[in-house]
Amino acid sequence: MNDAPASPDLAALSLALITSRHSVSPKRLVAPGPGAAQLQALVEAAGCAPDHELLRPWRLLRIADTQRDALADVFEAALLERVPEADANARGMAREKAYRAPVLLLAVARLLPAHEDVPESERYVALGAALQNLLLAAHGQGYAAMLTSGHALRTAHFERAFGLREGERAACFVSIGTPTGVKRRQRPSAHELIADWAPPGLR
Ligand SMILES: Cc1cc2nc3c(=O)[nH]c(=O)nc-3n(C[C@H](O)[C@H](O)[C@H](O)COP(=O)(O)O)c2cc1C
Repeated sequence: MNDAPASPDLAALSLALITSRHSVSPKRLVAPGPGAAQLQALVEAAGCAPDHELLRPWRLLRIADTQRDALADVFEAALLERVPEADANARGMAREKAYRAPVLLLAVARLLPAHEDVPESERYVALGAALQNLLLAAHGQGYAAMLTSGHALRTAHFERAFGLREGERAACFVSIGTPTGVKRRQRPSAHELIADWAPPGLR
């Protein structure tokens, strides 16, 4: 049974939502961001994503406003782990990233326990689908968002600070807020993205 709301406009509406979404840099995301009920809806939208064997191969951590100083400490320590000679300016830039965007989440991929029918790549596919649901739902709420990663996420200090368990990887941050400017990127056309398959002898 199809649970989609009975609306002749649903196809047009969903395409309009998807094609009008653009990432906005965390630097350009200001308050207000989604409130508690809106954030709950975004997370539940993420939870609607495809998930082979229902492994829930990801989790989200919210960085509350009260923890931004602690996150700045983590970014600075992660930088010093990678670049021990980093000067005050570089350390300040690393810290500054902790204060961007009113809502900040960390997406964590869960790669263990292994499942014989679900290769690791499918867990990242599931996480990507979940994050896209979240981005689209945020866009539908009138906010903008962006996924960002960076070298800090792959440092031992970062993994310790975020309590990552065995088999977990910090995938990216999700920043959400009100956009102060949008850079519209050119989208590829369908023919750049799809081709008809032909068996080897006919290629
Ligand atoms: C997992 C992941 C991590 C990303 N990390 C960064 C990043 O650190 N810095 C950046 O400029 N873009 C990053 N991007 C790309 C942006 O999130 C965004 O997708 C890209 O700028 C294209 O914009 P669009 O979403 O409007 O097409 C990342 C994308 C993904 C999927």
